[in-house]
Amino acid sequence: MKILLLNGPNLNMTGRREPLIYGTETFEKILDGLIPQFPELTVVYRQSNLEGELITWIQEAESEKFQGIIVNPGALAHYSLALSDALMCTTLPKLEVHLSNIHGREDFRRISVTAGACHGIISGLGKESYRLALEWMKRHGARPTGFQTGS
Ligand code: DQA
Repeated sequence: MKILLLNGPNLNMTGRREPLIYGTETFEKILDGLIPQFPELTVVYRQSNLEGELITWIQEAESEKFQGIIVNPGALAHYSLALSDALMCTTLPKLEVHLSNIHGREDFRRISVTAGACHGIISGLGKESYRLALEWMKRHGARPTGFQTGS
C-alpha cells in the first residue's frame, strides 16, 4: 500500500525548533525509525513550506496511485480553508497528525479547519502520532468502513 506522508510549514525544522514541544530528533531521523516498522507500506515523504505545493500534492495523490494520505499541516491546520478543500476533494483514506497536543496549547491552535476533512486526527503523541497513523493505514487504509470524513 502506497502512502503519502505530508508535512507542512516549519516541520522541516523539527529537532531544531522549540525542542521542549517538538523534541530534539529531526524528522528524517524519526522517519528512519518508523519506516522499517511498516514493511507492507510504501511511504513517500514530502515536506513543503508552501500551501499551494501541499494542495497540488493532495490533488495529484489519486493519479499518483497513493492509497492513503497522512498529513501534518503545521500551522495551516488552524486557518487554511484551501488545504481543507483540497482534502475534501479526495476520497482517499486521510489522517491528520500533530506532534504536539493542539488542544493543550494556545487558543488559536485548538481549532483545526483541516481535521474535519480527514477520517481522524492524532495529536500530542510526538512521533507516536505518526506511528499510530501508519498503523491505522495498515489496518484500515484500503477500506476505511465505519469511519467518517466531512466529505
Ligand atoms: C504542529 C502544531 C501546529 O500548531 C504548529 O503550527 C506546527 C506543528 C504539530 O505537529 O504539533 O507547526 O502541527
